[in-house]
Amino acid sequence: MVGSVDVLAHDSSINGTMKQWPEDFSSMTIMRDHVTLTIGENGIGNGVVQNGTENGERKIVLGRNIHTTCLEVTEPDIDDEVTGEREAYMAGVLAKYKKSLTERTNYHLGYPYNLNFDYDALSQLQHFSINNLGDPFIESNYGVHSRQFEVGVLDWFARLWELEKDEYWGYITNCGTEGNLHGILVGREVFPDGILYASQESHYSVFKAARMYRMECVKINTLWSGEIDCDDFKAKLLCHKDKPAIVNVNIGTTVKGAVDDLDLVIKKLEEAGFSQDRFYIHCDGALFGLMLPFVKRAPKISFKKPIGSVSVSGHKFVGCPMPCGVQITRLEHVNALSRNVEYLASRDATIMGSRNGHAPIFLWYSLNMKGYRGFQKEVQKCLRNAHYFKDRLVDAGIGAMLNELSSTVVFERPHDEGFVHKWQLACQGNVAHVVVMPNVTIEKLDDFLNELVQKRAVWFRDGNCQPYCIASDVGQENCLCALHR
Ligand SMILES: Cc1ncc(COP(=O)(O)O)c(C=O)c1O
Repeated sequence: MVGSVDVLAHDSSINGTMKQWPEDFSSMTIMRDHVTLTIGENGIGNGVVQNGTENGERKIVLGRNIHTTCLEVTEPDIDDEVTGEREAYMAGVLAKYKKSLTERTNYHLGYPYNLNFDYDALSQLQHFSINNLGDPFIESNYGVHSRQFEVGVLDWFARLWELEKDEYWGYITNCGTEGNLHGILVGREVFPDGILYASQESHYSVFKAARMYRMECVKINTLWSGEIDCDDFKAKLLCHKDKPAIVNVNIGTTVKGAVDDLDLVIKKLEEAGFSQDRFYIHCDGALFGLMLPFVKRAPKISFKKPIGSVSVSGHKFVGCPMPCGVQITRLEHVNALSRNVEYLASRDATIMGSRNGHAPIFLWYSLNMKGYRGFQKEVQKCLRNAHYFKDRLVDAGIGAMLNELSSTVVFERPHDEGFVHKWQLACQGNVAHVVVMPNVTIEKLDDFLNELVQKRAVWFRDGNCQPYCIASDVGQENCLCALHR
């Protein structure tokens, strides 16, 4: 029987043969499958997936699914229940998986996820299928929900962003992307012929929204900091004065953590002749929506200003173990896209149907445990650590940039993809970044830096290869390549 339930892994990318699941299920096994994307003009990967191509790079082919190290689902044997072998096998797989997750968690620096949390108190709830389908504010017929927690969380965020209880509407989304899809949809419903304006460093979900909703979209240039270039914004507004403006404002861009100047965006709209009844602003706060309120001198995100919606990811700074997010908009806007659904005995104004009912409880738990003061302390620690890390990079002769309001440190892309994958860095062009979250300690940053310095000594030893020039990404003053040093 054991033979039939051996853990199998497909590696059909090479020759379609089946292999034993590796003994130690180590992260390095997974790293073998890493992929380097070649992005085409239109933002779509256009390469070819291969294992072990030149330079150790792998590229992606569209239209072909690659099943590397996949854990096959196998049919239980008749006598499995008696022998207990399947249970033992499953327990073994999960134990190995848990070990690999622990290891990968320790080596994670590139994505803005706070991996520091303790939700043991909530484990008792995993036995329930909690689903918040429908409108958070309307009791539906499905009773196993967590709407009371959801509304508590929404109230907290509405207060943070200064919108009265009876003036806001919102819901707990599946992620920041869903928040953007919703915010831009609300803007489109308010202004059906509106044009979407977004800086070129906006998250890809913003441009996806434009494609999904078939909206005209105007990309705005950015400064080297990653912030929207408001002069270019105004110039482009003036070219389209006949149509209302739906504007995505970044509260932390994905790659550089740049914060668009909301007040200046509003000023440019006014200067271009757009009165408040002719524009809608969605603030994409996926990354820093919860950090910015606690940063001194930061521009204030507030519904006292003429904005239409704000979204934030819940698995980023808050540190939820599952993807989720929060979306807050004005109640007056949401009626435009709501429909009554008899089957639910509720109102449909969300992007998704079924909604994760566990997520609001995790958010609620975290907000209660930390409170405004707890988040403030964590934000301060992250900013301090980010500054420390940036200074150490520069001291080591590595070009780096850190935006004033950000904990995203941008630096020269490491030359070894294995190293990039070990530390799970996010890279774009010649730069990589580390996002300093509450779980990223000084010790971890030191370990990373020491390893990077050692690796660089090897990469650049015989002068065959040089550090990348990153002046066009982060400005000449932050670049330490041979030319700009
Ligand atoms: C600026 C920005 N907006 C939106 C998103 C999407 O968030 P999520 O991954 O929660 O869908 C991200 C993700 O990193 C982001 O950086």
